[in-house]
Amino acid sequence: MSNPAVVAIDGPAGAGKSTISRRVAERLGFLYIDTGAMYRCVALAASRAGVPLEDDAKITSLAESIRIQFSARCQEVFLDGEDVTQAIREPRVSDAASRVSKIPGVRQAMVEEQRRIARGEPVVMEGRDIGTVVFPNAPVKIFLTAEPMERARRRASELEAKGVNADIGEIARQIEERDYRDANRSDSPMVQAADAVRLDTSNLSLDEVEEAILDIAATRLKLSKNEGVQ
Ligand code: DC
Repeated sequence: MSNPAVVAIDGPAGAGKSTISRRVAERLGFLYIDTGAMYRCVALAASRAGVPLEDDAKITSLAESIRIQFSARCQEVFLDGEDVTQAIREPRVSDAASRVSKIPGVRQAMVEEQRRIARGEPVVMEGRDIGTVVFPNAPVKIFLTAEPMERARRRASELEAKGVNADIGEIARQIEERDYRDANRSDSPMVQAADAVRLDTSNLSLDEVEEAILDIAATRLKLSKNEGVQ
């Protein structure tokens, strides 16, 4: 389970994990891995195969059999060779991903794969349980969060940028439901690791969050701040 350099970024939906993790990985020259995309692939595969989300055994064997791949910098996600980058972002897949991620067999398959991808490579990995379960010895752990209404507002503007009409009240409700489920499941609930640094991004710009994480990484990884910067 040891890894030379892991930057673990956990936190609730809409806190800005993906944008920030991608930027930090680029600055450090580390591999970026979006683990939420993996649970989303399991959910999409289940819905396509018509497997009910309550059928733990079938969903687990599906999770063990599908092939999930990322292109460089996680720009694209492939499920059994098909580009599903857009498909996994649909709201119904977000909801289903949170449901399948409660299943212990699914988590086991995903965690194994996450550790395999990161073996021997410095990584920035984002999710819900990276600092607590996947890499409990990660030298850098960040718990990224923001006020619920701010997270809903960010999600709404992302959707609007894609030309999708967004009802902010409905988005806030969906985020709240998903966070509740993610934080209250029995296997690997979303929780801040005892040694994680909590960053509330509600009133911070992307640049400020990025610099704060790079400062923490520089100290914990004993790098000079600009080491690895491309
Ligand atoms: O980060 P995201 O919103 O794309 O994640 C989708 C769902 O996957 C999220 O609601 C909970 C689950 N997830 C998880 O349980 N563990 C992770 N490491 C990442 C995501």
